[in-house]
Amino acid sequence: MRESIINIAYLVASILFIFGLKGLAHPRTAVRGNLIGAVGMLIAVLVTMIDQSIISFEMIIIGIVVGSAIGAIMAIKIPMTGMPQLVAIFNGFGGGASLFVAGAALLEANITGSATGTQMTVATAISGIIGAVTFWGSLVAFCKLQEVVVSGNPVQFPGQHVLNILVLLAAIGLGAWIVVDPSAVSTYWYMVAVASLLGILLVIPIGGADMPVVVALLNSYSGLAAAATGFVLNNNGLIIAGSLVGASGLILTTIMCKAMNRSLANVMFAGVGGEVVGGAQKGAEIYEGKIKSTSAEELAMVLEGAQRVMIVPGYGMAVAQAQHPVRDLYNLLEERGIKVEFAVHPVAGRMPGHMNVLLAEADIPYDKLLEMEQANSEMGDVDVSIVLGANDVVNPVARTDPTSPIAGMPIIDVDKSKTVVVIKRSLSPGFAGIPNPLFAADNTLMYFGDGKKAIVDLNAAIKEG
Ligand code: TAP
Repeated sequence: MRESIINIAYLVASILFIFGLKGLAHPRTAVRGNLIGAVGMLIAVLVTMIDQSIISFEMIIIGIVVGSAIGAIMAIKIPMTGMPQLVAIFNGFGGGASLFVAGAALLEANITGSATGTQMTVATAISGIIGAVTFWGSLVAFCKLQEVVVSGNPVQFPGQHVLNILVLLAAIGLGAWIVVDPSAVSTYWYMVAVASLLGILLVIPIGGADMPVVVALLNSYSGLAAAATGFVLNNNGLIIAGSLVGASGLILTTIMCKAMNRSLANVMFAGVGGEVVGGAQKGAEIYEGKIKSTSAEELAMVLEGAQRVMIVPGYGMAVAQAQHPVRDLYNLLEERGIKVEFAVHPVAGRMPGHMNVLLAEADIPYDKLLEMEQANSEMGDVDVSIVLGANDVVNPVARTDPTSPIAGMPIIDVDKSKTVVVIKRSLSPGFAGIPNPLFAADNTLMYFGDGKKAIVDLNAAIKEG
């Protein structure tokens, strides 16, 4: 009876997780989705608490207090641009927790002499390997993004892939040993040590700017490790929740790779994100004598004659924290009867939904955000497109040069609007490290400066005009 109630409660929690995830798919329903998921998690936690397997409530309370304090301080202190590394470290903790719980279950079974069936030992080995890879891989991702200890550049050396395969085989071999001989508890920790090395080796060759994709993948791994731990403990709630995290992380990884027109293998093994040799020199050839720079006053006059404006934000808007002045610009233009919309590229910025989060923070109405396909279909009617700190996501080379690192990546076709204004500090390339012929196009004006200051000055010029 007690078991049935527990399983029904886990089922209810799982249904709430699924509805919560569905809600998170759209900005309008995201807050509600988050709340539904949180209620599901509360039910799952309470049910686990009343389950007889709890050993000590004191330890749990201490854990909750310490964990909440660390989590709250980290979440408050981290700036918006540092969100990817926060997510990375949280994923890592999830993987670490799974491997310790699975290890503790193996130790407990050996101490109490309880049965260790094949399901439990296989799941323990899987949880230990994936959990360790997730923890150490996430730690390296955090360090790369934060540029502590290691730089963001890819670290590659000859024979790297062979070494990775050998380390993976060693971890699997030790895992198989645990399945054959579950009394070998120390073997579990040797396996964890080897898998930890694998986690580090797998992530160091990946460029810092590709880390968000890796973080999404490690998020998926943390879910798989949790699901495996669910099989160790025979806990249905953990199996379902872990599987949902595993699947959604994988879907997110696929969406990000697709939006960059890259395969996951290319992200994992190609070492993209280092210096592009000759990039600056190539840029100088393309830009020579063709760059037309503009000022706030001139731009205010251009906007005065416009009926429809499309703002295309990118990573630079996040760096400059220009979203609030952008909201003021939106208000000023709308007050003057100019239609203003925002075109959001799926991989603009450095994490999924980066631009959506910033624009939502500045209270830009959701219905003013156009997805890439819709924005492109209307670009011919746009009088002025304002590219704010975006570069790769508006680079026409993606359409024209099959040898480019961004070849085939769908872009926002701002070059098809009547006038393009690009706001950035210099002619430096973006993440892909390549020049952008858009800056030298006939219908493009460059407005050089920090994104926030540029928009503040523009707003002042519009008010004066
Ligand atoms: P980028 O191509 O990276 O370009 C950003 C531009 O912002 C730079 O050229 C920089 O030029 C400018 N900038 C930086 N600080 C600025 C400031 N304070 N004020 C004004 N401008 C500033 O950005 P994007 O167009 O958003 O494209 C994103 C890139 O990241 C894509 O290549 C994408 O594949 C990659 N990526 C995205 C993700 C996700 S999930 N979003 C994940 C991994 C990789 P200046 O230095 O001249 O100012």
